[in-house]
Amino acid sequence: MDKVQNGYVPGLKGVPATESAISFLDGQVGLLTYRGFPIVDLARFSSFEETAWILINGGLPETDELARFDAELRANRRVKYNVRDIMKFLPIDGHPMEALQTCVASLGMFYPGQERMTANGVNADSEFVEQMIVKILASMATLVAMWEHIRRGDDPVQPRTDLTYAENFLYMMNEREPDPVEARIMDACLVLHAEHTINASTFSALVCGSTLAPPNLVVASAIGTLAGPLHGGANQRVLNMLDEIGSVEKVSDWLDQRLANKQVVWGFGHREYKVKDPRADILQGLLEQLREHRSGQISPLYEIAMALERCAEERLAPKGIFPNVDFYSGLLYEALGIPRDQFTPIFAISRTAGWLAHWKEQIANNRIFRPTQIYQGYEPRSYQPMSSR
Ligand code: ACO
Repeated sequence: MDKVQNGYVPGLKGVPATESAISFLDGQVGLLTYRGFPIVDLARFSSFEETAWILINGGLPETDELARFDAELRANRRVKYNVRDIMKFLPIDGHPMEALQTCVASLGMFYPGQERMTANGVNADSEFVEQMIVKILASMATLVAMWEHIRRGDDPVQPRTDLTYAENFLYMMNEREPDPVEARIMDACLVLHAEHTINASTFSALVCGSTLAPPNLVVASAIGTLAGPLHGGANQRVLNMLDEIGSVEKVSDWLDQRLANKQVVWGFGHREYKVKDPRADILQGLLEQLREHRSGQISPLYEIAMALERCAEERLAPKGIFPNVDFYSGLLYEALGIPRDQFTPIFAISRTAGWLAHWKEQIANNRIFRPTQIYQGYEPRSYQPMSSR
């Protein structure tokens, strides 16, 4: 039973934090829509570019609107040379989410415009809003791929304008033209992770945005929040956990032990879903597609993951705990040649579309977030200087 006292709800469970028209989820039936469009259709038929446009602008784009947006994203893929210099000073064994947050935060210094957040004294200049949305979204994939090369001591791979967002990201990461099936799978992954109502990182973006901070800092704030293992950071832990289990035969005992120790199973459970996360189902379908494409060759960890899901059906499903989006995504990314600590940054690339859509919605009808607290500390008491203590 959740503790509710004096109106305080721990974790703000079930407490509406805003009104929004961007996405909707029904956790009882496993439905997720972006601007009313079911995620299952978007993952199958749309692209990350179009999905970002839908989230940010509210409906389906006309052909020329999408072409313009796509062209702007392509034209803005390069980041200033100085960002590369910043990366060169970061410790190579630091987590990529920290490198990403640092570099995204710095973007505003290269494209200043803080004063345009209050152009007429109150509202943001809409041209600045649109420009920054494109600039940040286009830069995200470049920053993630750049760090991969810089931390290895290599020169980063320059972005290309003749590739889609997903193709270009895989090209910059792996330094080779992506296989079309793999690029389409990456595109679907970006669509699936782009938005998810008011989760922790989006809430963080809203709070930061409500102070009229510039959008690069709004996204940096959300990146920090996404990094934690209870949120986006779980995808990396899932693979380490599957390694630790080691084989299909060991799954049952491992799970019993894990639950007896009151430890969470990474990639399982969700505040909102009481059925299997629809994105986990779609990601598993993409894994099957990749397996077929590779004539049955895919990670042995996939077998362990499926055995864990079957085992958890008896132990966790009765409590409404099922695989979430992070359970199968890492298996796909690893199969696409991406290092484990880059899984959460990929999540961040995609979720930037949702964060910026929420930022735009927030500042169009802004009120600063300033909740209150239930004070549990001392009554006022007298301070004793050190000399008389
Ligand atoms: N494994 C085992 N038990 C779990 C799990 C899990 N993954 N998730 C929840 N539970 C149990 C809790 O221990 C608790 O049990 P209790 O009632 O006996 O104390 C009960 O289910 C309710 O859990 P809460 O922690 O109250 O759920 P909450 O909504 O606060 O947390 C969260 C949700 C953080 C996602 C949680 O399920 C979790 O820690 N999962 C593992 C981490 C993870 O995969 N995070 C990614 C989520 S998706 C995303 O953010 C992109």
